[in-house]
Amino acid sequence: MLVLGLESSCDETAAGIVEDAAAPAARIKANIIATQIEAHRPYGGVVPEIAARAHLDIIDELVTEALHQAGIKLTQLDGIAATCGPGLIGGVMVGAMTGKALAAVTKKPFIAVNHLEGHALTARLAHDVLFPYLLLLVSGGHCQLLLVEGISTYRRLGTTLDDAVGECFDKSAKLLGLGYPGGPMIEAAAQKGNPKAFALPHPLMHRAGCDFSFSGLKTAVRLAVTEAAKPLTETFVADMAASLQTTIAAIMCDRTTNAFRLLAREGVHPTALVVGGGVAANSAIRASLTTLCHKQGVPFFAPPLALCTDNGVMIAWTGLERLRLGLTDSLSVRARPRWPLEEMRANQSAS
Ligand code: KG4
Ligand code: ZN
Repeated sequence: MLVLGLESSCDETAAGIVEDAAAPAARIKANIIATQIEAHRPYGGVVPEIAARAHLDIIDELVTEALHQAGIKLTQLDGIAATCGPGLIGGVMVGAMTGKALAAVTKKPFIAVNHLEGHALTARLAHDVLFPYLLLLVSGGHCQLLLVEGISTYRRLGTTLDDAVGECFDKSAKLLGLGYPGGPMIEAAAQKGNPKAFALPHPLMHRAGCDFSFSGLKTAVRLAVTEAAKPLTETFVADMAASLQTTIAAIMCDRTTNAFRLLAREGVHPTALVVGGGVAANSAIRASLTTLCHKQGVPFFAPPLALCTDNGVMIAWTGLERLRLGLTDSLSVRARPRWPLEEMRANQSAS
């Protein structure tokens, strides 16, 4: 089975093609990504109107390129999947409409993919991860701990009470003059910094539960930057980046440990910890989670770096997993700005 996946919910336009090959390494047939980072850079963040237009300008070309890379014709596809939410609605509509048009023309099944489910299932493309697994979903718009019981069956154990973790990285990077997107910039700057230079707050740490909070942390960075001599020195920026990254990694581990404890009390033993979303690209966070999993005695799976940030392959793979179960959607399904993962069980068709 061959499935095309389209992604356009934020600032990457992407088309991927996957096949249900037995060997994980043989599953990706095409992976084309056009990033809009340069278009948004002057604004220090994603501008929805610019994003939607940029998706529209390029998406047809990306589909053609993906088919070319996979060496197949449109008619050879078994299904067409597109992100139908959550995300910036103008962009989501571009991908959803393109996917539906292709499905209508080819008379192939259409699969409306929840972008978060895409991040949640990517680890299963690269590794044979079995249900149920604990998922730490960390991106620019989300920060959640979920028990993935199966396709469409997600139980949220905790979420952020304010900002997403990626947002904390992005806004702090902006304050430090590092530019956009912030996560990779902070990671690079942190390499030369002292992680103990600043004693930053650890919101909710050592408290019960699996929720997150980042607004206090962001404020602490802002205050330190305001008080620092200007222009900021390279040492200040590196030390703050390292301190912030270490603090975030500690928060991730504390909350994830609580999730394992909570599940153990219920007699639920996840097969693994999986990390997904753009922030999963951070190697310091990966290293801390690896150590945690060692202590917990469970394997740790992180998607390959290229599949952590938004891409079409994750949407194609989710489409394939759903298609195998007969979970296809009608062409009247709507694009949605909000679409919590826990709502999927109640609302299989997403319409
Ligand atoms: O999943 P994603 O590509 O888009 C959303 O669905 O939000 O995640 C983007 C987020 C951004 O906030 C970006 O700064 C963050 O992922 N990110 C990182 C790293 N690479 C990307 N954060 C920390 N370290 C990184 N290496
Ligand atoms: Zn994402």
